[in-house]
Amino acid sequence: MPNTPIILAIESSCDETSAAVIINGEVKSNIVSTQVIHEKYGGVVPELASRAHQQHILPVVESALQKAKVTKNEVDAVGFTRGPGLLGSLLVGTSFAKSFALAMNIPLIEVNHMQAHILAHFIDEPKPSFPFICLTVSGGHTQLVLVSSPLEMEVLGETQDDAVGEAFDKAAKMLGLPYPGGPMIDKHAAKGNPQAFEFPVSDMPGFTYSFSGIKTALLYFLQKEVNKNADFIDENIDDICASYQHTLIKMLLQKLRKATRKLKVKQVAIAGGVAANSGLRKAIQELAEKEGLEVFTPQFQYCTDNAAMIAMAAHFKYEAGEFSDQKISAMPRYKL
Ligand code: KG4
Ligand code: ZN
Repeated sequence: MPNTPIILAIESSCDETSAAVIINGEVKSNIVSTQVIHEKYGGVVPELASRAHQQHILPVVESALQKAKVTKNEVDAVGFTRGPGLLGSLLVGTSFAKSFALAMNIPLIEVNHMQAHILAHFIDEPKPSFPFICLTVSGGHTQLVLVSSPLEMEVLGETQDDAVGEAFDKAAKMLGLPYPGGPMIDKHAAKGNPQAFEFPVSDMPGFTYSFSGIKTALLYFLQKEVNKNADFIDENIDDICASYQHTLIKMLLQKLRKATRKLKVKQVAIAGGVAANSGLRKAIQELAEKEGLEVFTPQFQYCTDNAAMIAMAAHFKYEAGEFSDQKISAMPRYKL
């Protein structure tokens, strides 16, 4: 095995087709093709996502190799997202990676998408040291994870219903904002008053989250207000977004603070698409200052789905000698 491995990595779990090249732990390219087709449907349509992955995967891989200035013959291993994600989407990346490994006679490395979101923290400096607690917040997941080493992670708690990204996206839909709604709410929230309206904070035991209640509360609130004034949403969009986002962030950070105190861990990190939220990034900095914690936030491009994080995870697995065989299949409900 070469000790400066060149690894090609593929991500296709949802609506981003992405390929990256990592050489000896250093990301050399990260090409992301975002499927815009879902915008007009207000959410990801699984059938359309897998078709788009099929169209994009080859050009995306070719650009990633070209940008990294490597040929396919120089690749030492291929990593891919095995799950969690949409089955049809995962199958495209999985089949591509298996075929590439077979054709080039190189090892195959399966990667858990949630583990990769956390390992995105090792792409650039500053990198957290171990142990740290990561709050992983995406469209499909909300988890508090104790990270003891690159490949040793324990889920302390997660959502029992909706993911926080869903709470953002569904609220955006109710407000008539385009998909994906998270970034739109973020934008409006930056101009609004977070104390303007009050939404309920769910209080689940331990480190369990719940975001279905606040979503329903927003729906009833909007129905009531729009009945009184048809222009209520338009007139108050910034304040509604700021108040709603503020409540989501409060829920996320309450449990994170509880976990750091209980486990006496001094380093915290955020990962996943919602980690791009500017309100959350600011609030976690403030929490860190108050609690004497060190906080790590990845670059925006490594928060939402990308293959650089899959490449980083594949690199750690390569170093640990964790390879997969050709019988491996995609796993839509792959647990961390
Ligand atoms: O990690 P990700 O790209 O895909 C999944 O694995 O789910 O996360 C996508 C989620 C979506 O719900 C999107 O609305 C949300 O991340 N998101 C944001 C922001 N940017 C992306 N949510 C709030 N504020 C943002 N700036
Ligand atoms: Zn993701």
